[in-house]
Amino acid sequence: MVLDQQLKIEVFRKLAEVISSCRKCSLWRSRKNPVLGDGDLNANIVFVGEAPGYWEDIKGKPFVGSAGKLLEEAIRKAGLSRESVYITNIVKCRPPENRDPRPEEIKACGPYLDEQLDLIKPKIIVTLGRHSTAYILSKAGIAFRSMSVVQGKIFEVKFWESKTYIIPSYHPAAALYNMRLKGYIEEAIRLAASIR
Ligand code: URA
Ligand code: SF4
Repeated sequence: MVLDQQLKIEVFRKLAEVISSCRKCSLWRSRKNPVLGDGDLNANIVFVGEAPGYWEDIKGKPFVGSAGKLLEEAIRKAGLSRESVYITNIVKCRPPENRDPRPEEIKACGPYLDEQLDLIKPKIIVTLGRHSTAYILSKAGIAFRSMSVVQGKIFEVKFWESKTYIIPSYHPAAALYNMRLKGYIEEAIRLAASIR
């Protein structure tokens, strides 16, 4: 048990090393720091965002800017703490000017997320925004059309031979400009926190 945990920590440390010298897509050219993820490696809930932004790129940690503040507040309002969940992104290096990640970048970087999820094996995956939602739903063979259709819903799938729940949510950055979305995000995270 203790050894398992140490092994996990070690594998994550190695993974951080691998992405810090990764050149599988062109985003390595402009990044300052790649962002692997942050939080409890035994978390029940994993949040998957899009890609690092300005502050994440500087600090090497996910969701530490204004979208992160909003996300953290929603996590706290749901009765959880940032430390008790795991937070990561589908793309580990910041796209220039915070543009959307391109399909080829998601394809190149996705295997790192897959590896993280395979190690954590969370019961619940909350996807933040359309890129991570489309990616994770497609792994379960579910077609994605639009955020407004899937957000706040629970998709029960079978990953790692056990029940896994996918809960898509709007991206916290979108809620910075649209307060209505903030309520939806908080509701989705409350829903995730209510699953036992
Ligand atoms: N937006 C994201 O999708 N991820 C971050 O880490 C920060 C902002
Ligand atoms: Fe590698 Fe991902 Fe960074 Fe591209 S975004 S260079 S695939 S770590």
